[in-house]
Amino acid sequence: MTPLAPSSVEVSGDRRRLVVGWPGGRETTAPAAWLYDNAEGGFDPKSGHRLHGALTLAGALEIGGARTEAGAVVVRFAPGGETRRISLAALAGAEAGTDAVAPRLWATADEVAAAPPVAFEACLADDRALRDVLDRVVQRGIAFLVGAGSEPGTVERLVARFGYVRETNYGRLFDVREEIAATHLAYTPVGLDLHTDNPYRDPVPTLQVLHVIEAAADGGESQFTDGFAHAAALRAAAPARFDVLAATPVEFAYVGPSGERYAARVPIIETSAAGEVVGVCLNHRSLCSPPPEAAEPWYEAYLDFYQRLHAPAARLERKLWPGDVAVFDNRRVLHGRSPYHGGAIRRWLQGCYADIDGLKATLSRLPPPEGGGGE
Ligand SMILES: [Fe+2]
Repeated sequence: MTPLAPSSVEVSGDRRRLVVGWPGGRETTAPAAWLYDNAEGGFDPKSGHRLHGALTLAGALEIGGARTEAGAVVVRFAPGGETRRISLAALAGAEAGTDAVAPRLWATADEVAAAPPVAFEACLADDRALRDVLDRVVQRGIAFLVGAGSEPGTVERLVARFGYVRETNYGRLFDVREEIAATHLAYTPVGLDLHTDNPYRDPVPTLQVLHVIEAAADGGESQFTDGFAHAAALRAAAPARFDVLAATPVEFAYVGPSGERYAARVPIIETSAAGEVVGVCLNHRSLCSPPPEAAEPWYEAYLDFYQRLHAPAARLERKLWPGDVAVFDNRRVLHGRSPYHGGAIRRWLQGCYADIDGLKATLSRLPPPEGGGGE
């Protein structure tokens, strides 16, 4: 590897930042506090934790002097007087930005439907197959597996490959099947509009895993839609409506069988400080309507988004069979089902929740795909 060599290193006139020029004309401008915080020796070698607290930065507000030496810039800080080395590699990488994977939106189901499902046993045994599944969840929000058998508890074996089950008020695992005297519409044969699960929880479970143990003889097709793709479409076609849904928190609530009431207030479309869509929370069954005086523009925007999500061309509709597994981002991909008739066989899906940050963390340690390509 060619050693990094800056073409210039200068302290700004007010001594508060260092300007490093690189061959080709790129520059890195780093304030004194950043230099101190990223200096060599500032981190515990085992944990990677920063060793000093932020109060120390009061002694590193200015640069008393700077010089280059092998692979580093040596900076003397003022008013504290400490001298520290900052590696050129850290300075060169400072402008590179994050390596976060941009979501691959799917406004229609074609691309996701065409991706062949991954073999369940391969995902358990082979890191390349696991990587394929996790990549799909991060990029498209959903992955399908086949061949998982029909043993209850199977979802735990999959989640153990990349993280931990998130237990909720529905238990560690939950069974989606028809129940006598059901306390939840999911446990009846009615169809369910597309929705995200548990919007009344704070925080919302970020990942859902569903395993088909038994399929209905008639009906019960599973449906999935990319909420991010249709939020983007709404933003492009009707930006004022997008803004209403992003700016108006609404309450979702659920009262459990013992009378406990879960409630959370969130916007239907959640955006980051940079304006990116980072979450969709939508479940008409548990929605508490906004106050009537604010309801007219909100309902207009909500119905527009709801219709986009439920357009037949928007959704992936697929009959899932015993042994099939779906893993999806519960803050992005909405799921639903057509009504079903049980007959002699009862439809039975077993599911659990997990955390998508754990999935991403596992993905970060897996070896890259062969050839550097992949999904
Ligand atoms: Fe659901």
